[in-house]
Amino acid sequence: MGGRAISEIVFDAPGIARRVEELGREITVHYPEGDLLVLGLLKGSFIFLADLVRTIRRPHSVDFLVVSSYGEGTTSSGRVQLVYDPGTDLAGKHILVVEDIIDSGNTVNRLARVLLDRQPRSLEVCALLHKRLGAPLVVEPRFVGFDAPPDFLVGYGLDHAEAFRHLPFVASIKE
Ligand code: IMP
Ligand code: MG
Repeated sequence: MGGRAISEIVFDAPGIARRVEELGREITVHYPEGDLLVLGLLKGSFIFLADLVRTIRRPHSVDFLVVSSYGEGTTSSGRVQLVYDPGTDLAGKHILVVEDIIDSGNTVNRLARVLLDRQPRSLEVCALLHKRLGAPLVVEPRFVGFDAPPDFLVGYGLDHAEAFRHLPFVASIKE
């Protein structure tokens, strides 16, 4: 698979673990009460989410979202299709969307519109990585692991053509 090679490690495993622990603490204090549903965006968030939920020290439930990929030219539609829709009702719950990386912000922007339609009590985004390249977001992520360089990053759930997700660190790849 692939054909690309790792260029350099950008965030190592111990650094990620420390930051995830801090995010868990921030999230725990941010939600003193109410029903919390942590919604992981598949596939990229699967490792981050698994580590993150173990650092959130208050009751919550976990579900996943799969959004359809969209090509160029659909950027103005403002729509995102949910391929897998969480079975649970979102109304009245605190919803925390967990995303691997925010690049243009299109995915999070569109998803936010769809989820806000369902009358959650609150909607926040937690992203492991934020490239801070895009236009202002509908929901600016409240919880961010690291500001990321503008390189293409892989590992810790992030892929290039489905390769490299399993790496315990985040790395850039060679062109
Ligand atoms: P956005 O919609 O442009 O913010 O892109 C977000 C999605 O694109 C993420 O959920 C990732 O799946 C993917 N993506 C963006 N940048 C990278 C990267 O550097 N490495 C791997 N996937 C990326
Ligand atoms: Mg991806």
